[in-house]
Order: sequence, then structure tokens, then C-alpha cells
Amino acid sequence: MNAEKLALSLSSILLLIFFSLILYGAYVRNIELPTCIVNVKPFDKDTIIKISENKYEIRYIARQFSFFPMEVRIPRNSTVDIYLTSPDVIHGFHIENTNVNVMAIPGAITYFRYTFKEPGEYRIVCHEYCGLGHQNMMSKIIVE
Ligand code: CUA
Repeated sequence: MNAEKLALSLSSILLLIFFSLILYGAYVRNIELPTCIVNVKPFDKDTIIKISENKYEIRYIARQFSFFPMEVRIPRNSTVDIYLTSPDVIHGFHIENTNVNVMAIPGAITYFRYTFKEPGEYRIVCHEYCGLGHQNMMSKIIVE
């Protein structure tokens, strides 16, 4: 009987810890989950839009075997809204040295927001096998 109570209490405490970690990630660390937008027709042109000095919107097209735009230059501390889609097959989209790791899905748009705090060259690589040229599929974001 006592062992059951102990097990129940411990598992409740564990659940509370997990739930607090989710809240901590969302509100303290500002970690946002990528969103999959399915109810609109995906764009078919890549675009870079400068919204303000440190705010950008980039629409990426991932297609066999390149990402468009192939190179983007933004100033340091820019917050970027990234929309991503694919006209052919499923591709991966991983920005090296960040926690960004999403998929480009035909017929849908993947959205996420990321702030590039450190200057440098961020390579974007496809991490989902998409055909013969898969290993050459990359792009980069240069943070100045
Ligand atoms: Cu695109 Cu692998």
C-alpha cells in the first residue's frame, strides 16, 4: 500500500517537473515549435523580405537538389520568419550550429522563427534522402 502511494507521488512529481520544463522552454527560453501550415496554397517563388532593420522574412523553396534562395545576408541579431516548402519531394532543412531542424513538405508550408545572435556563416543542409543529388543540397545564411 505504501509502495503504491510512493510510486504515485513520485510519478506525479515527475509529471509536474516535465510540465514545468515545457513552460520554461516556451516562456523563459522562448523556444518556439515549428508550425506546419496546410490550409493555404504554397508559394512557388523564393523571396527575401526586409521588414525592418533587424526583422526579415524568407520564403525558401527546397527542390531537387538546391535550396532557393541559395545565399542570404542579414545583419547580426536579426529575427527571421522562415517559410519553407517543396514542389517535389520531402526535404530536410537543418541550419548548422542552431537547433533548427525541420522538413520541407510538398503541398504544405513549414514556418518557424529564429534569431541569429552570433555572426558567421550558417550552412543549411538537407538531411532527408531526396534523390541522387541529395548530398549536394545546401544553402547558406551569412550573418554579418
Ligand atoms: Cu533534399 Cu536531400
